Amino acid sequence: MKQSVYRLSRTIYLKRRLHLLITAGPTREPIDPVRFISNYSTGVLGYTLAKEAKKKGYKVTLISGITDLNPPPGVKFVLVNTASEMYKEVKKFFPSCNCLIMTAGVCDFQPVKVKREKIKKESLGNLVLRLKRTPDILYEMGKRKGRRTLIGFALETDNLLKNAKEKLRKKNLDLLVAQRLEKNKTPFGNTEVSVILIHKDGSFQKIPPCSKSRLAKIILGKIKFL
Ligand code: C5P
Repeated sequence: MKQSVYRLSRTIYLKRRLHLLITAGPTREPIDPVRFISNYSTGVLGYTLAKEAKKKGYKVTLISGITDLNPPPGVKFVLVNTASEMYKEVKKFFPSCNCLIMTAGVCDFQPVKVKREKIKKESLGNLVLRLKRTPDILYEMGKRKGRRTLIGFALETDNLLKNAKEKLRKKNLDLLVAQRLEKNKTPFGNTEVSVILIHKDGSFQKIPPCSKSRLAKIILGKIKFL
C-alpha cells in the first residue's frame, strides 16, 4: 500500500516537473488601426490540449491569439495578437519547457507597412497590400530544440503524407499531426477530425475520425514515447 502511494506521488511529481508550452488560436496581422489579416483558427484543439494536460498534472503555459474561448483553470495564459508577439512569447517560455505543441494558426504573411491612420476607401480604387513573411516560430524553435519534444500541425490540400513528412524534417519535429483540407468539411472549431500522426522515424498512424477532445488525449499519450 505504502509503496503504491509512493509510486503515485512520484508519478504526479515527475509530471508536474514537465512543462508543456502550447500555442493556440489565430494571429492577427494589422493593416491599419481597424483592419487585420487573419485565418479561421478557433483555438479549440489547443485549449483542449491545455485542459487535458493540466488534468494530467503537467505544468502548462498557453500562448494564444484572440479566440472566443476561456483559458482552462490553473494554466498560465498569455494573450497575443500578432505572429511577432507570439514568437516573442514562445522564445521567452521555450527555455524552461520540455515540450512545445504548436497548434496556433500563425499567419504566414503580414503587411509590410501598418498604416497609422484608417485607410480611406474613398481615396482609392483597388487597394493593393504588400505582404512579407512572418517568422516561422516552429522552424526557429526546431533549430534550438535541444532535448525538447516538438509537435507541429499541418493542413494540406494535396500530397498529404509527402508534404507532411517534409515539414516534419524541415522543422525538426518529433511528431506532426497532419490533416487533409477537404472541400465540404471544415477542420475549424468543434468538429470531428481525421488525422495522420507522423513520427520522426517516418512511421505514421492513421487516426479514425474522432473529436478534438479524443485527439488531444491521443497526442498527450504520445509524449512519453517520443
Ligand atoms: O508550414 P506550415 O504553416 O504548414 O506549418 C504549420 C505548423 O507550423 C503549425 O504547427 C504552426 O503552428 C506552425 N507555424 C509557425 N509559424 C508560422 C507558421 C506556422 O510556428 N509562421
